[in-house]
Amino acid sequence: MAVLPIIKAPDPILKKHCVPVEVVDDEIRTLMDDMLETMYVAPGVGLAAPQVSVHKRVIVVDTSRGDTDRSPIQMADPELIESSDNLAVYDEGCLSFPDQYAEVERPAKVRVRYLDYENEIQEIEAEGLLSTCIQHEMDHLDGKLFVDHISMLKRNIILRKMSKLKKTEALS
Ligand code: NI
Repeated sequence: MAVLPIIKAPDPILKKHCVPVEVVDDEIRTLMDDMLETMYVAPGVGLAAPQVSVHKRVIVVDTSRGDTDRSPIQMADPELIESSDNLAVYDEGCLSFPDQYAEVERPAKVRVRYLDYENEIQEIEAEGLLSTCIQHEMDHLDGKLFVDHISMLKRNIILRKMSKLKKTEALS
């Protein structure tokens, strides 16, 4: 397994749409392994392939936040089957936006169909943090970021901070 570099916003890499993988083969399994390793090291609760410069519809999540009881979920070609009318607000962050958080409102419950690590079709019903996390990561596959869900004012504040951070990093 390898820890991959995470793309930080703003970056056009994060705005590109991803293509379906259709089959989870060894190449995709390696990508899933590397993405999980990268996410745990960061640390974070979710990661989408474009964040590591791969434009394929692959996400990984683990909301257990436990070192001993990890419960990773690897998803290829995730598809939203159902979402609840009632919404939930969560203070979201993103590994592509270090130290930036904003309240985002999304459907409280979702049902998602996907291909798992063994290339089997699975369905998951998620609520709470897991629901938020899956929706956040699925957005990444269509070039959509959590800041695209908030007001332009708040988005510009965060993007300005990110641009400044990138400039400082480039100089150091
Ligand atoms: Ni994210």
